[in-house]
Amino acid sequence: MNKNKAHIQIVKPLKTDDLQVCKATEKDMEGLLAVAASVGTGDKNHRQGFLMDNYHKDKEKYIKKFQEDMANSKMFYVIKKGEKVLGFLLAYTKEQWIKMEPNWVFDTSWKWDFDKKALKKFVILEKIAVKSSMTGNGIGSELFKKFREDARSMGIHDMFSETLISPKPNFASMEFAMKQQYQLAGIRYEKFDGKVLTDIIYHRKL
Ligand SMILES: CC(C)(COP(=O)(O)OP(=O)(O)OC[C@H]1O[C@@H](n2cnc3c(N)ncnc32)[C@H](O)[C@@H]1OP(=O)(O)O)[C@@H](O)C(=O)NCCC(=O)NCCS
Repeated sequence: MNKNKAHIQIVKPLKTDDLQVCKATEKDMEGLLAVAASVGTGDKNHRQGFLMDNYHKDKEKYIKKFQEDMANSKMFYVIKKGEKVLGFLLAYTKEQWIKMEPNWVFDTSWKWDFDKKALKKFVILEKIAVKSSMTGNGIGSELFKKFREDARSMGIHDMFSETLISPKPNFASMEFAMKQQYQLAGIRYEKFDGKVLTDIIYHRKL
C-alpha cells in the first residue's frame, strides 16, 4: 500500500465509543512499542507523520525510557480497543520539561504577539502517536481530549507542543495541530543525532 495514502484509505471508521483511554502501565509495553515502531522508523514519512526516534533499533533503550515515563509522568496515556493499544500520548509538566530541557524557554524565538504569561505554568505534549494503519479515525483526538481534561483538573490552562518543520516537515502533525486549534507561538532550533532540527512551537489555551 502507498503509505502516503494511508490517511484517506480507511473506509470504515472506528467507533470511538469502543475506545478506552487510560494511564500507560507495564502491561502495555509491547503495544506501546508496536505503535511507536509503526511511525518511528528509519524512513520519515512526512505525509503520514513520524516520530524522530527509530524504534526498530535498540528496543531495550526504549523500554527503559517508557518505564521511566510511566514512573515519572502523570500524563502518559494509552488508548485501547479491548486490550489492544492503538495509540499513546506522553506529556510533561513544566517542572519535568525544564529539567530535561533547561534552556527551552531561552532557546525559543517567541513570536512577537505571544503572551509569555502562558509560560508561568504549563504542560507540554511531548509525543503523540497512533498506529500507522489507524490514523484519521479520531484516535488522536480522543487522547487529546483526555490530556486536556486532566491538565485542567490539575489547574493547568496552557499547553505547548513541538512539530518538526526541517529537515522534513511533519505534515500529519501540523494538520493535527490545526484540528486541535493550536496557535503558533515560536520557533526553536535543536540538536538531534548530530543534526540541527527546526521546530514550530505551538501553544493552546486549555
Ligand atoms: C498526528 C497523529 C497522532 C494524529 O492522530 P489521528 O488519530 O490521525 O488523529 P485524528 O483522527 O483524531 O485527527 C485526524 C486529523 O489529523 C490530521 N491527520 C492525521 N493524519 C494525517 C495525515 N496522514 N495526513 C494529513 N493529516 C493528517 C488531519 O487534520 C485529521 O483531521 P480530519 O480527521 O478532520 O481529516 C497521527 O497522525 C500520528 O500518529 N502520526 C505519526 C506520529 C506523529 O507525527 N506524531 C506527532 C509528533 S509527536
